Amino acid sequence: MREQLEQIKASALAELAQCGDGKALEALRVSYLGKKGQLTAILKQMGKLSAEERPVIGQVANEVRQALEAAIAEKQEALKEKELNDRLEAERIDVTMPGKAAKAGGLHPLSIVTNDLIDIFQSMGFDVVDGPEVETDHYLFEALNLPKDHPARDMQDTFYLGDNLLLRSQTSSAQIRVMEQRKPPIRIVCPGRVYRADEVDATHSPVFHQMEGLVVDKGITMCDLKGCLEQFVHEIYGPETQVRFRPSFFPFTEPSVEVDVSCSECGGKGCRICKGAGWIEILGAGMVHPNVLRGCGIDPEVYSGFAFGVGLDRLTTTRYKISDIRLLFENDTRFLDQFN
Ligand code: PHE
Repeated sequence: MREQLEQIKASALAELAQCGDGKALEALRVSYLGKKGQLTAILKQMGKLSAEERPVIGQVANEVRQALEAAIAEKQEALKEKELNDRLEAERIDVTMPGKAAKAGGLHPLSIVTNDLIDIFQSMGFDVVDGPEVETDHYLFEALNLPKDHPARDMQDTFYLGDNLLLRSQTSSAQIRVMEQRKPPIRIVCPGRVYRADEVDATHSPVFHQMEGLVVDKGITMCDLKGCLEQFVHEIYGPETQVRFRPSFFPFTEPSVEVDVSCSECGGKGCRICKGAGWIEILGAGMVHPNVLRGCGIDPEVYSGFAFGVGLDRLTTTRYKISDIRLLFENDTRFLDQFN
């Protein structure tokens, strides 16, 4: 029996040395020390031994058990440490490797310019309003003093979604929506997308952007219009920029003007950017037509106002010297990254 015990100890220690993971170790423990284990089986036969032999063998058996338990515990520790080291090795991070830079997004140049304009007009006391891109004939034309047969409708030959619904061709419809809802004094700007059936080229796009402005109060004159727009131009283009008001026509303003600024590239001499003219047209404006005020329930004998519509795409391309308007719509990140 003594030999048997020694043999069990030897074979258990040999197997233990081969043991590679916690699962195998547990199996080994059960197969020797478990209820039905080899060592347990031997101990069960102790009863057959003589009274002299029993304590001697009993002591040997205990020694073997303790030795095995200690060896197993030691192995368990070693395996745990190995597992940890393996994991640390596998998950190791090489802090000397070059990192991947996170690419931050940025504002589109049109948004930058629009936000700048909003800041300027807000500082002059204007509210910012929003209007729908799908408009009714009433808001886009009729209430703006453009009846059905008016020839000025041709210039804004637009995208119809039905007899009465169309994509707005100008943000001027916002004027009507605001005047129907608010009592003067009114001071609003309305930025947004507009649509016209234009051929796409370097300076035309069927989708572009405008910002409408409207002021209605008692005693508003053409001087207020000039002062307000000159102030805005000087903030955007710099105080040295000259502003030119040319007589023009819009059905919803009388008198009407178009506003040019001296070309910031050549200072007025004439260059590629201003197509040799020395001036760049940036907006249409005028004094709100009495018919428009009356149609919105505002008495033109008491109140007067001015309105303007700025082309935001033109403002953006001239400010950043962008040669082709299509760049604003292509979403090419190589182009857009330059504005971050
Ligand atoms: N809506 C006009 C256009 O798109 C611009 C404009 C706005 C003119 C307000 C006068 C007053 O051309």
